[in-house]
Amino acid sequence: MKKVLIISGHPNLAQSTANSLIISEVQKQLDNVEVRRLDTLYPDYQIDVVAEQDALSRADVIVWQFPFYWYSTPALFKKWIDDVHTHGFAYGSQGDKLHGKTLIVSFTTGGTADDYSVGGHEGMELSAFFPQFSQTAHLCGMAFQAPIYSQGMHYIAGVSSSKELANVHANAIDHAARLVKKIQSL
Ligand SMILES: Cc1cc2nc3c(=O)[nH]c(=O)nc-3n(C[C@H](O)[C@H](O)[C@H](O)COP(=O)(O)O)c2cc1C
Repeated sequence: MKKVLIISGHPNLAQSTANSLIISEVQKQLDNVEVRRLDTLYPDYQIDVVAEQDALSRADVIVWQFPFYWYSTPALFKKWIDDVHTHGFAYGSQGDKLHGKTLIVSFTTGGTADDYSVGGHEGMELSAFFPQFSQTAHLCGMAFQAPIYSQGMHYIAGVSSSKELANVHANAIDHAARLVKKIQSL
C-alpha cells in the first residue's frame, strides 16, 4: 500500500469551505494517509524543515492541496516549498530524496471554467498556470500527474447563496472522489 502525504496549504482551514471538505472526504475514504496542516503546524510561518523533509521521505505519493491564490499557491504553502525543498534534499547532485515519488497538485479556484478560457475573464486556460508546478516536480525527480482541480469554488459567508454553497459542497465531494480514484490507480 502506497503511503500518501497530503500537505494542506490553506492558510486558515477552519474558514475553508472547499479544501476542508476535500481533505476530510479523502481521509474518510483512504487508509494510510498523513495530512499535514500547515496552518495549525505553522501559524507563525516558521516551518520545521527537518519534520517536513522526514514526512516527505516517508511518502510515496505527495498531494499538494491548496486554494489557488493570485494564480499560484497561498504564501504559507509557497514558503513551505521554498524552505523544505533544499539543495542536497530536493535538488542538486546529492539531492535525490524526492526522486521517484509521485506529485499530485490538487487545488480549488474561485474563477469558473468560463473565466479560465481564451476570451473569458482570465483570458487563458487554467492549464497555463501549471508549468510552475510541473517544472518543480521535474527538478526534484518526481512523477508529475495531471492536476486535479475544481473551479467556481468561491463561497463568501453572508454573500453567496445557499445554492452556491450546495454547489461548492457537491463539487468538493466530486473533487475528493477524483483524487481518491487517482491515488488508487497509482
Ligand atoms: C487572497 C486570495 C487570492 C485569490 N486568488 C485567486 C486567483 O488568483 N484565482 C482564482 O480563481 N481564485 C482566487 N481566489 C479564490 C480562492 O481560490 C477560493 O476562494 C478558494 O479556492 C476556495 O477554497 P476554500 O473554501 O477552501 O477557501 C483567491 C482568494 C483569496 C482569499
